[in-house]
Amino acid sequence: MAEFTLPPHSRLVKGKKIDVSDGAKNKKVFEVYRWNPADVDEDGEAQNPRLDEYTIDLDKCGPMVLDALIHIKDNVDSTLTFRRSCREGICGSCAMNIDGTNTLACTKDIADVHGDVKITPLPHMPVVKDLVPDLNHIYAQYTSIEPWLKSDTPAPNRERLQSAEDAEVLNGAEGHGPAGCILCFCCSTSCPSYWWNSDRFMGPAILLQAYRWIADSRDDATGERLDQLEDPFRLYRCHTIMNCTNTCPKGLNPAKAIAEIKKMMVARR
Ligand code: SF4
Ligand code: SF4
Ligand code: FES
Repeated sequence: MAEFTLPPHSRLVKGKKIDVSDGAKNKKVFEVYRWNPADVDEDGEAQNPRLDEYTIDLDKCGPMVLDALIHIKDNVDSTLTFRRSCREGICGSCAMNIDGTNTLACTKDIADVHGDVKITPLPHMPVVKDLVPDLNHIYAQYTSIEPWLKSDTPAPNRERLQSAEDAEVLNGAEGHGPAGCILCFCCSTSCPSYWWNSDRFMGPAILLQAYRWIADSRDDATGERLDQLEDPFRLYRCHTIMNCTNTCPKGLNPAKAIAEIKKMMVARR
């Protein structure tokens, strides 16, 4: 019988427990994934990742999970590493797994998590350090779809205008169209097909971005873009599992974008 076991050094172990709540009534425990490639044992082997536990006074930090992480970094452990920039749900850099769901730490309200708050990096990505995933591969995939306008007409002296109807295709109702994507990769890292085939399957984030240019009325490279995706893996590894749409913190629908590309593939045959 097949036996599936994790390599010994990849198993998550219990880490430090640090309580700085100082008897506060409004306290909360944050269990945070920690791993540093520079931490090696005497044989040069990397240490196991661990879950450090921080108990903090919520009255001393802001309401969002990112506020708690910043509070821990500033006041408890300056070595804690995570990405963030805008703290407004715009840049996509603070994406991580919180309470079992991929989301943005800056827009995730601590009050929405019952019990302890468990925070781990986006799943199934190599980890650079702590909560920072390695995004090199997925950005190379993004580059491969050539995410810029390709037009056969010379550049005008001003913006290339669209009709309101054409713009609506990109912007969607209430900004939930493909142009609203912030490249946080919560969707791709929740997609089982992407977990197993990320070397060849583009995944929902990149396919939604591809659709954003395919659907742009000002772009003249639709056929070329579809040719580039016509492949058993790049596009067709999507099995409509819908995790991507369910997890998108911006309320977008990558599964629908993928379905639209598939329909265009059929229509041009
Ligand atoms: S709908 Fe497709 S892309 Fe989205 S999670 Fe499912 S398999 Fe992945
Ligand atoms: S579709 Fe949503 S979850 Fe996926 S990268 Fe864009 S904003 Fe993030
Ligand atoms: S810090 Fe920019 S989306 Fe969270």
